Amino acid sequence: MIPYGKHHIDEEDIKSVIKVLKSDNLTQGPLIAVFEKEISKYVGAKYSVVLTSCTAGLHLASIVSKINKGKVLLTSPITFVATANSSLFCGGETIFADIDSSTINISIDSINEVISKNKVHAIAPVHFGGLPCNMRKVKEVADKVGAIIYEDAAHAFGASYPDGSRVGSCNYSDMTVFSFHPIKSIATGEGGAITTNDKKIYEKLMRLRNHGLEKNQENFQLKNNSFTNDLNNSWYYEMQELGYNYRITDIQCALGLSQLKKIDKFIIRRRELAKKYDLAFGNLKNCEPIQKNMRDFSSNHLYVLKINFKKLNKTRASLMKEFESAGIITQVHFIPVISHPYFRKKNYKENNFPNSYEYYNRALSIPLFYDLTDKQQLYVMDQVKKLIG
Ligand SMILES: Cc1ncc(COP(=O)(O)O)c(C=O)c1O
Repeated sequence: MIPYGKHHIDEEDIKSVIKVLKSDNLTQGPLIAVFEKEISKYVGAKYSVVLTSCTAGLHLASIVSKINKGKVLLTSPITFVATANSSLFCGGETIFADIDSSTINISIDSINEVISKNKVHAIAPVHFGGLPCNMRKVKEVADKVGAIIYEDAAHAFGASYPDGSRVGSCNYSDMTVFSFHPIKSIATGEGGAITTNDKKIYEKLMRLRNHGLEKNQENFQLKNNSFTNDLNNSWYYEMQELGYNYRITDIQCALGLSQLKKIDKFIIRRRELAKKYDLAFGNLKNCEPIQKNMRDFSSNHLYVLKINFKKLNKTRASLMKEFESAGIITQVHFIPVISHPYFRKKNYKENNFPNSYEYYNRALSIPLFYDLTDKQQLYVMDQVKKLIG
């Protein structure tokens, strides 16, 4: 079976993890800070905080953005539920703006429209499939209403903006959140990171990741409790706010560091595969490839075909079965968030999101991952041509 996405693990990755398993620190060891430093260097941000998942990162980003009861987050309906949930974790609300049909990212016109009718506290643009949103425009709109921006870059580690800076540099946002789940650009098992250029945000994120604990003497609120005569109380720390245990392990960071060394070849191969698909599918009657013009900037996390099922005279479910019988696993990214039962209760109107539903009704992700061989890709291409035509 050829999956639609998969991690790549080599001997170096395995050796790195074994080394930690034989060391004194399985968690909260030295590799956490090393991984953070390397991520910051790679994306061009001042600070990184690595943590248990992108979902945990989005939660903390929402707290740092001061989302709470009555405060509204704006995002795209074509995302994984975690983006929309981040504000709900904090007692806030989430509303949505429709997507742009060519990029599948949140549409600037829709953001403008929604913002003209609603007070929006924060915006979470999602770089769908690794294709960066037009962040210059998102920031322009956000600045008009004083909204905070945290980027959901779960798919976009290794992607760049058109100005050449990397996603994660936070040149257009307050924070960027990544996922290192196995099908993403690099893998740590479960895992994620938040990058920022703001020292205060960084320090707060570090506390929130670890139960709200402050360990830096300079920041203690009850300084008198931190020393005895001339000696520091080495055991002393303070819980200054309500935090969580979102700590990632040294085992995972060892894997992440080893994976990060290979990021350039991962991204180059994904781009090459995506461009080959684009070429092969240029003339298909019943489907069109999407996001075609931005392959060089995208991390090419997904390859989605937009299929005209009516013209093809097949259902998506039957087509997916046909692919499966041919040994190819396909998937749908994503069910619009507002279609889930939990969100339906909130009464969002599907009619307000015509592009999102037009996309959803036609989308099918086909295999795209570093280890996909040329031979396997040719086979997938043949099967797509045979089954979709
Ligand atoms: C767009 C998006 N945001 C957030 C997440 C959550 O990432 P994680 O699994 O690391 O929590 C995902 C996961 O696939 C995602 O696709």
